[in-house]
Amino acid sequence: MVDRNGWDADASVPAGPSHDPPASFVEQANVTDEAVYEAFEEEWPDCWERAADLLSWERPYDDVLVDDDAPFYEWFSGGRLNASYNCLDRHLEAGRKTHAAIRWEGKRGERETYTYQDLATAVNEFAATLLDLGVEENDIVTLYLPMIPELPIAMLACARIGAPHSVVFAGLSADALATRMDAADSEYLVTCDGYYRRGDAFNQKSKVDNALISLDQDVETVVVDRLGDDLPHVLGEREYDYDELVTAHAGETVEPVTRNAEDMLFLMYTSGTTGEPKGVVHTTGGYLAHVAWSSRAVLDIKPEDTYWCAADIGWITGHSYIVYGPLALGTTTVMYEGTPDYPDRDRLWEIVEKNAVDVFYTAPTAIRAFMKWGEEYPERHDLSSLRLLGTVGEAISARPWRWYREHIGGGDAPIVDTWWQTETGAITVSTLPGVDAMKPGSAGPGLPGIDARVVDADGEDVDPGETGYLTIARPWPGMARTLYDGDDRFRSEYWSQFSDPDDGRWWYFSGDAATIDEDGYITVLGRVDDVINVSGRRLSTMEIESAITGVDGVVEAAVVGRSGEGGGTEIYAYVSTEADCEPDATLRERIVEGVESSIGPIATPASVVFTPELPKTRSGKIMRRLLEDVANGDQLGDTSALRNPEIVGEIQTEIQTE
Ligand code: PRX
Repeated sequence: MVDRNGWDADASVPAGPSHDPPASFVEQANVTDEAVYEAFEEEWPDCWERAADLLSWERPYDDVLVDDDAPFYEWFSGGRLNASYNCLDRHLEAGRKTHAAIRWEGKRGERETYTYQDLATAVNEFAATLLDLGVEENDIVTLYLPMIPELPIAMLACARIGAPHSVVFAGLSADALATRMDAADSEYLVTCDGYYRRGDAFNQKSKVDNALISLDQDVETVVVDRLGDDLPHVLGEREYDYDELVTAHAGETVEPVTRNAEDMLFLMYTSGTTGEPKGVVHTTGGYLAHVAWSSRAVLDIKPEDTYWCAADIGWITGHSYIVYGPLALGTTTVMYEGTPDYPDRDRLWEIVEKNAVDVFYTAPTAIRAFMKWGEEYPERHDLSSLRLLGTVGEAISARPWRWYREHIGGGDAPIVDTWWQTETGAITVSTLPGVDAMKPGSAGPGLPGIDARVVDADGEDVDPGETGYLTIARPWPGMARTLYDGDDRFRSEYWSQFSDPDDGRWWYFSGDAATIDEDGYITVLGRVDDVINVSGRRLSTMEIESAITGVDGVVEAAVVGRSGEGGGTEIYAYVSTEADCEPDATLRERIVEGVESSIGPIATPASVVFTPELPKTRSGKIMRRLLEDVANGDQLGDTSALRNPEIVGEIQTEIQTE
């Protein structure tokens, strides 16, 4: 079974021999009793009270799970709580005011520490600011900020007043921002003048100006002055300076709004199988309980730890495991604004050493880069504070897994390979580091209470080692409740493939292919839909194709994933042009610009191959699978069903001569 995204069951890396966690780790781990799996089964769904118990509730919930309107489940319904209270106030009340909440490391070597008191003060002041601007409960506030402290401050301020936030990754384009603000009908935006990119000042505000022009609604915009004199900016109508507003509200406090467990905490747009991004809705109680529980059980976070997730808050990983999970547990979370190789390739290890980081969580794409750069960089630093390592975003094969453990983890730190998605809200498949053996290359079993299965097209469990579809056969607290774009899309995107409503069966389909072994360990192979995962970031092939076809002179485009050197996936674009349009370097540049302006540089194709036409079936469907085989240099299947089989050879020649 081979899909469009380049995974191939035969080529998948078999899990290596298993490794037990070291005794010294187990002795101190938060969860060490293997009976936790059985207990969750026996007590399901009440088992999830353990997660809810990690939170402070203003009103206790009536039911753990309400499932009479599947797949629209309710968790902890009737319960009332506030996420900002749970991440801040209760730690102050527990006498932890001076404990560090966020340690921020700026791009230019700046360092700032926010104690829980500092963070609470900043959040209260900004919450007062938002109220003053007219933000009301349930209004959606868009946050378009890089990795600066104002981002988590704004998120928690929104949570405090019950206004769901919609964070748009700062690297996305003006068009992408406008699409998301339009879809969410968002009338409030928090952004900045610009930020430093590898030392240079980069203008964010001009992107915002372009986005706002295309919106129908009036937008109140708050602008953080990140660059000062390095990038002077002018504020227009309905635009306000962050510092000025906050200074006007200095010392003010805002009572946290009491929210229903099922009230929306935030909206997060992610790529789907169509060109339109999906607005994934997460609610307050179940999400916060699940991120807190998984931060504790999987990432082994303790309040006295310094913990670092080197992701961007612009994506779900940062929401769950830089902001909400660690702060709910009252730990110290490190936030890094820069890149791993600036000013030098040891930057991350310098930060680990300086902050004596206990737990470090990153993506396989980063680990592959570290491995390529060589061990001399981590060797420059004392990394002995690290107790546990984690990975997320794509599969990590055995070699980088071992390198990570050896050169970052001192040879014996356990690694958790965590599989989850924007839609699952929190980790759903992983080993528990204090309980389970690890198998390099395999994420592990479903977490306790998570019924993760690998099934064939009929929903039957596949045999060990066989490829199938990764599904979750039971609801879980952190799950998305719906899509902002509508319940129908939610049902059809995730609940139509393996569910059988007549039989009362509601199984969530992840869009991923996987194998499972005799011990129930799951190895994720990649997407089976029109989504490609590039450096752990999810992109829709259709969205990229429509950006390319928007370029003058382009007739058609087909985008596929190609396995890059040393693992990972690259974007490979086939483009056909109008007869009078020269397929040359200038056009290639315009295509790259087109993609960057409609999505952002993260979607820039690694290769653009021009072809007079795309291979199509007789019914006119583009044969993307074939194009993917061509891109990957794989053996081609039968091309006789093509209307224009000769084009395949032409494309291959074109690639070879490039
Ligand atoms: O294909 C899987 C891959 O990332 C997808 C989810 O992307 P996103 O919603 O952006 O969330 C990323 C971070 C949670 C999945 O469908 N993926 C995520 N973690 C892993 C993974 N693939 C293999 N192994 C993982 N540990």
